[in-house]
Amino acid sequence: MTENSRKILKVLRGETVSPPPVWLMRQAGRYLPEYRKVRAAAGSFLDLCYTPDFAVEVTLQPIRRYGFDAAILFSDILVIPDALKRNVRFEEGHGPRMDPIAAEDIAGLDTLDVLDHLKPVFETVQRLRIELPAETALLGFCGAPWTVATYMIAGHGTPDQAPARLFAYKHPKEFERLLATLAEISADYLVAQIDAGADAVQIFDSWAGVLGETEFQRYAVEPVRRMIESVRARRPQARIIAFAKGAGVLLKSYRQGTGADAIGLDWSVPLSFAAELQKDGPIQGNLDPMRVVAGSKALEDGIDAVLQALTNGPLIFNLGHGITPQADPENVSRLVARVRGQAT
Ligand code: CP3
Repeated sequence: MTENSRKILKVLRGETVSPPPVWLMRQAGRYLPEYRKVRAAAGSFLDLCYTPDFAVEVTLQPIRRYGFDAAILFSDILVIPDALKRNVRFEEGHGPRMDPIAAEDIAGLDTLDVLDHLKPVFETVQRLRIELPAETALLGFCGAPWTVATYMIAGHGTPDQAPARLFAYKHPKEFERLLATLAEISADYLVAQIDAGADAVQIFDSWAGVLGETEFQRYAVEPVRRMIESVRARRPQARIIAFAKGAGVLLKSYRQGTGADAIGLDWSVPLSFAAELQKDGPIQGNLDPMRVVAGSKALEDGIDAVLQALTNGPLIFNLGHGITPQADPENVSRLVARVRGQAT
């Protein structure tokens, strides 16, 4: 088994693989009892991310249970603001928090120690590549500059990222500088993950969907394009998936605009439109995570619709966003079996 035979890498090169390879965003997480156990032992969520013994273990858990075609490094997009010393913490029941950044703080962001701070992540990647089955691809990831910036500006999650949208209108120069800084360090971070053994990387732009057309081009497409260009200048073979959640019709030019090999699609993307996007290259998605919670017919019908619409071209089967804590682990077994055409 060579790395070139990993199914996801074949799809990322534009091949149609049948049955399609499958992994799920947030596949390591609270829906798994074995994750909750390690999570409790680790203490804080960031300790879990920065302790290779724990991070390797929780990355492997869903691979052992389900035999997914890819493992995704266990970490978080917010390790970047943490490395920028924004006092990131994850509070039980509140989600992530950090010190909100002001326009006048941006020029002074200290980027010097970022990669040093993230060394445990690279060790986790190295150890994973050794421990994973040869046929399992290893995915690294980071957040897109826009999505990471939304948390840095508000200091926490918000329903519509109004604070970051407002900030961008009021302080366009500082905002552009923040995105440029994030793009630069995130590109370095991805290169380091690839060097440690990641087969491909995904860029998560979970909040792309709240941007207007002009801002989407400026704040979602452009920084990701620069990141991908910077990664490819150094690692020409790098395989990159870009996921712009909620981008809708703006996805039409997203692949070409960013240079991503594959684009991730959320569940609101109509399958007919997904098939159009697939004519230009590989796609990943897009089952509604709530179908995994619902199970039975809702799960089966959703899987069948995706397979029927999208298996004539290069597809990585995935959810349209992360799996949620309420999902029944048994439904994930059923999902994998159905995608692979196996009886349950
Ligand atoms: O299995 C995997 O997919 C790998 C691990 C992973 C996590 N976060 C672990 C995590 C990945 C790829 C992420 C990405 C991430 N983190 C995104 C982009 C994808 C998306 O879901 O939109 C975003 C926006 C974040 C920021 C973040 N991290 C939020 C908003 C939260 C709180 C919400 C929640 O689900 O609790 C987190 C915490 C987080 N990241 C958890 C996990 C497993 C849960 C925390 C816990 O276990 O206590």
